[in-house]
Amino acid sequence: MNEKTTNTLIKKRYSPLAFSAQVVETRIMMACLDAARWAPSAFNEQPWRFLFVHKHETENFEKIASTLVAGNKEWAEHAAVLMLVMAKTTFSTNNNPNPFHLYDTGMAMQGFLIAAMEHDVLVHQMAGFDADKARENFGIGEDIRLISVAAIGYLGEMEALPEHLQVRAKRERTRKSVEELLIG
Ligand SMILES: Cc1cc2nc3c(=O)[nH]c(=O)nc-3n(C[C@H](O)[C@H](O)[C@H](O)COP(=O)(O)O)c2cc1C
Repeated sequence: MNEKTTNTLIKKRYSPLAFSAQVVETRIMMACLDAARWAPSAFNEQPWRFLFVHKHETENFEKIASTLVAGNKEWAEHAAVLMLVMAKTTFSTNNNPNPFHLYDTGMAMQGFLIAAMEHDVLVHQMAGFDADKARENFGIGEDIRLISVAAIGYLGEMEALPEHLQVRAKRERTRKSVEELLIG
């Protein structure tokens, strides 16, 4: 069976803790963002917005890394790329609040994650960061909501992680059964 069918990639995807130092080329980031942009969205608003920084862009990388909570920073700062995932909270046509900005951006991110898997790139998203600080660090406007930070890169050596992270990384991934998702 083709190992890179969409369904296989969806199931094989996971959020790693060990990242290698290998650079994720900008063209690969652009390919993943291209997949993200084809997500459906309410009124085709496409509210998702992104800001990504390579590790070698030291100053800007630190502007994101420094906003992460300690428990995330310890592993995420080794990723090749950090990306702010954001959304415009209002509709462009009438400035009314867009209640679907998070929903739509989540779908865009799933597109990103699966496209990344096609390139053997893994992504670990984090809500554990200081959104106000990140907003200030990059001068991001008030109509944009900062949702998460994504650590992006190739898989690293699990053995290089501190013991407590190795334990976490080895934990079995679990999911609710389909039956548990059905109401009524
Ligand atoms: C919106 C969001 C926020 C998350 N925040 C964090 C976080 O702050 N720290 C962390 O280690 N993982 C975080 N995660 C990763 C989840 O814990 C992970 O996706 C979940 O446990 C399922 O594991 P899997 O992605 O390996 O399948 C987050 C995931 C999402 C989608």
